[in-house]
Amino acid sequence: MELKPGRVLLDQREIAARVDALADEINGFYRGMPIVIVGVLDGCLIFLADLIRRFEMPLELALVKVKTYMDESAPQKPPIVPLADLGDLAGRHVLIVDDIYDTGATLGALKAEITAAGAESVRLCALLEKKREHEREVELDFCGFAIPDVFVVGYGLDYAGRWRNLPHVAVLEGYDETPPVA
Ligand code: IMP
Ligand code: MG
Repeated sequence: MELKPGRVLLDQREIAARVDALADEINGFYRGMPIVIVGVLDGCLIFLADLIRRFEMPLELALVKVKTYMDESAPQKPPIVPLADLGDLAGRHVLIVDDIYDTGATLGALKAEITAAGAESVRLCALLEKKREHEREVELDFCGFAIPDVFVVGYGLDYAGRWRNLPHVAVLEGYDETPPVA
């Protein structure tokens, strides 16, 4: 079966309204304190761009690509965080922004590395959180939407590099019948 975006899970309006509310929540939390936003590429791109334009605190932006191993046949390895790309985070308040929180491995590894680099505080924000049965490594501090355990694309999220540009979030049709591609 051909994999393609199917049912719309979150439409453009819903996303925009939730991003507004989430930005209010985060503005209220930091109350004008300067922060460093660490965006997790490539998936954070659209969400991050919408979110930070609603922020009121002084902020700096750092972007990072985290290498994860999606092949389940290989032994589980921790994601690789290129910390050097992030500059000096010692003593800074850091907000990590990602598209989706699935197993928590990516955000867990980032939080651990940035904490070890001496950040004053490290909070986690994701547009989506997948509802899963098993234990998570870390908890999200700020979450846009909780969604069922389905594969989604759009608004920055991809499948094999495609569909990041959809303005909404859709369920990937046919995914359950096909093995995933990293
Ligand atoms: P985690 O480390 O398992 O939390 O995985 C998070 C990463 O897996 C995200 O940053 C996404 O790149 C990818 N991912 C997990 N679920 C989805 C999905 O439903 N659609 C697109 N990408 C996903
Ligand atoms: Mg991805």
